[in-house]
Amino acid sequence: MIRDPTTKSWSAEQWLLGGMVLALAATCMGLLLGPQPAASAHLIALALLVASLTAALLMIRLVGRSQRRMEAMLRGRASGEERAMEALRNSEAQWKEVFEHNPVMYFMVDATGLVLSVNTFGAAQLGYTVDELLGQSVLRVFAAEDRDMVQRNVAACLDNIGQTHNWEIRKVRKDGSRLWVRENAKAVRRLGDQLIVLIACEDITERKHAENALQQSEMYLTEAQRLSHTGSFGWRVASGEIIWSEETFRIFEFDRAPSITHATVLQRVHPDDRARVQRTIDRASLDGNDFEHGYRLLMPNGAIKFVHARAHAVTNLSGDTEFVGAVTDVTARKRAEAELHEAQTNLAHVTRVTALGELAASIAHEVNQPLAAVVTNAAACLRWLNRAAPDLNEARGAVRSIISDGNRAGEVIQRVRAMVNKTTDQRAPLDINDVINQVIGLVQHELQSHLVSLQLDLAPVLPSVVADRIQLQQVILNLVLNGIEAMQPVTDRPRELVIRTRHDEAGQIVVTVTDCGVGIAAENAERLFDAFYTTKASGMGMGLSICRSIVEAHRGRLSVAANIGPGTTFQFTLPLREEDHAW
Ligand SMILES: Nc1ncnc2c1ncn2[C@@H]1O[C@H](COP(=O)(O)OP(=O)(O)O)[C@@H](O)[C@H]1O
Ligand SMILES: [Mg+2]
Repeated sequence: MIRDPTTKSWSAEQWLLGGMVLALAATCMGLLLGPQPAASAHLIALALLVASLTAALLMIRLVGRSQRRMEAMLRGRASGEERAMEALRNSEAQWKEVFEHNPVMYFMVDATGLVLSVNTFGAAQLGYTVDELLGQSVLRVFAAEDRDMVQRNVAACLDNIGQTHNWEIRKVRKDGSRLWVRENAKAVRRLGDQLIVLIACEDITERKHAENALQQSEMYLTEAQRLSHTGSFGWRVASGEIIWSEETFRIFEFDRAPSITHATVLQRVHPDDRARVQRTIDRASLDGNDFEHGYRLLMPNGAIKFVHARAHAVTNLSGDTEFVGAVTDVTARKRAEAELHEAQTNLAHVTRVTALGELAASIAHEVNQPLAAVVTNAAACLRWLNRAAPDLNEARGAVRSIISDGNRAGEVIQRVRAMVNKTTDQRAPLDINDVINQVIGLVQHELQSHLVSLQLDLAPVLPSVVADRIQLQQVILNLVLNGIEAMQPVTDRPRELVIRTRHDEAGQIVVTVTDCGVGIAAENAERLFDAFYTTKASGMGMGLSICRSIVEAHRGRLSVAANIGPGTTFQFTLPLREEDHAW
């Protein structure tokens, strides 16, 4: 009970005390005014009366003071309680305000999942009013397929009271549309021992969409990389760290790891290609320029893979150089190329043999000449020996001629055999002028019988080219025979064929074969190199197409141009240096 501090009336205790003092005073008065009062008794009673009155007055004051103190204390406490209540009311209102206006959805559900409370913002976000959700099962705002998960999560909260749990889930709006939320929930015990679960949900739909889009594009990228057998990589030059995509790990057949080093990569590189790859990496790390290279991988099971890597240099945010690149497994392409190459080699062989067949008369002539000389020399030798005094010196000379003619015939046969043989690519440094002379040796008769005069304009000193001798012989033979055939109809001018060699300013060997034959129509210039294009009744049309593939396999170029005067010039180039292959 709180009393008004200004009231001056006495308390019950004061009245009781006053009453007791008055009773004592009355007793003393009785003693004083009694029938036989004794003088000493009178004095004692009087003293007692004065003492009791004084004590009473003191007691009354003391009691009054402590009572006032108590009242003041109680008044203070009451106003404190009132202030606390006020503060609580204010804070409740503030929190309510926060819950109402915070862009976060708040739910309070009981242990059975019934909504006890939801903020207006949350309800609105789901397209409901607060009243539409209160008392309803919270499962209503979840998709049917997610409800089990909701129940499991709520149960987990109830099993661990006071512990915060969080999860990501889709919620369903009243109109059926969905949104992604991240829920933070915890079970608490309310007054009256009731268990409730408080849930705060943050809308993460946009983040989720972005994540999904990223995941999707990553999935597309991974799939595209797998389909194209192309992996990607990033290389931070300063730290030496290399980041690989899933496909790159698959190509190199390494287990996935956050990053990888060049040392590990080099382990996989074929030992014969390792130094070259190392050089490319060293150069790129020094000059920071884009690079491109092809190399082989030697797999643990002994299989060989061919890869082609390209990288582009970029400067990252901290100003350091980074390479971003792609590595493609070109093994299948390489295999197809090898098969194609083999088919081309077979075809080249067939056409070579066919050409030699056409040259049978020429070859026979080439062999016959030394053979006839052998016979003549042998007869002469016999005559020198059959003399009465045999002339041994002359006989020796004749035998020497026999040997050299025999060797000449043998060389022709050897050359023909080499061209008939099916050889694989055998590249060696060779002098192109030698190759030309060897071919001329086979076509002498052809030239003579077609009344063609051959002019050789060969550069006296030429660096050697790394090439396959038989293949180059085939190219020159076909160009010479084509030239002879193109001059067949020419009757009004000398039939002249010129073969030239030179070393040009670009550092390559250039060979030209010029005739003064029928020439070519400009529109047919490129068709000549198509397989099976021929204008000859008995032609196969494979010659120039094979010549071009042979020259290109030597990284050269074969082209044709009409002469200023009559006839045509075919020209092919051969580079001198073997460079790193870029597949
Ligand atoms: N020197 C040349 N002058 C004019 N036409 C040529 C010459 N060389 C080739 N041709 C043309 O190119 C065609 C294809 O030549 P080639 O591929 O060697 O096949 P083929 O000699 O079997 O016809 C020839 O049929 C001819 O029409
Ligand atoms: Mg031909």
